[in-house]
Amino acid sequence: MAFDWVELLRVLHILTAILWVGGAVFALIFIGPAVRAAGKSGQEFMAVVGRRGGPARVMGPISGITILTGILLYWQRGYYHHPFATGPVAALSLGALLGLVVFILGMGIGLPIQRRMARMAKGFGPTGPTSDQQATMARMGARAQALGKNVTWLLVATVVLMVGRNLLA
Ligand code: HEM
Repeated sequence: MAFDWVELLRVLHILTAILWVGGAVFALIFIGPAVRAAGKSGQEFMAVVGRRGGPARVMGPISGITILTGILLYWQRGYYHHPFATGPVAALSLGALLGLVVFILGMGIGLPIQRRMARMAKGFGPTGPTSDQQATMARMGARAQALGKNVTWLLVATVVLMVGRNLLA
């Protein structure tokens, strides 16, 4: 029996999609509110996360594999010939588009913010951040949070479209 590489792509796509969406929802619902409630120790925790490369260190490759395998599957199934041919294919195409938008927002806006925060956290002196550094970190953190919140809901919508498409059959 020949090795079914398309099935492997499908499994990889679904597995990484679960990790991406699950991680984003977990961060939005549990980690974000807990870090805010913890005040100064929450900021210290986030500085440690930043020094270790930030969430992008893991979520970058995971989201990259989701997008790459998704594009290959989309191409292999030939959906690009008629992206809105039927209800289910239209839902899948909209989901794919939404997924791409989320990825571009993450890489284009989220990643640069995380990198700047990580660089700044590495430069804190032994007494911790100065008040200027604290204010800059808080500003960047608020931007990252707002972006994270919006893209997480877009990610959930992507999954609803990709998984729920067959309800339209
Ligand atoms: C946010 C990113 C994404 C998530 C969370 C996601 C999630 C999923 C899930 C859970 C499935 C399985 C649905 C099922 O078997 O009923 C799926 C299927 C699929 N996804 Fe995605 N996806 C994402 C991005 C993309 C992108 C960007 C593309 C293409 C450009 C794509 C193309 C596909 C295709 C073609 C299938 C169907 C595979 C098949 O026919 O067996 N996905 N996706």
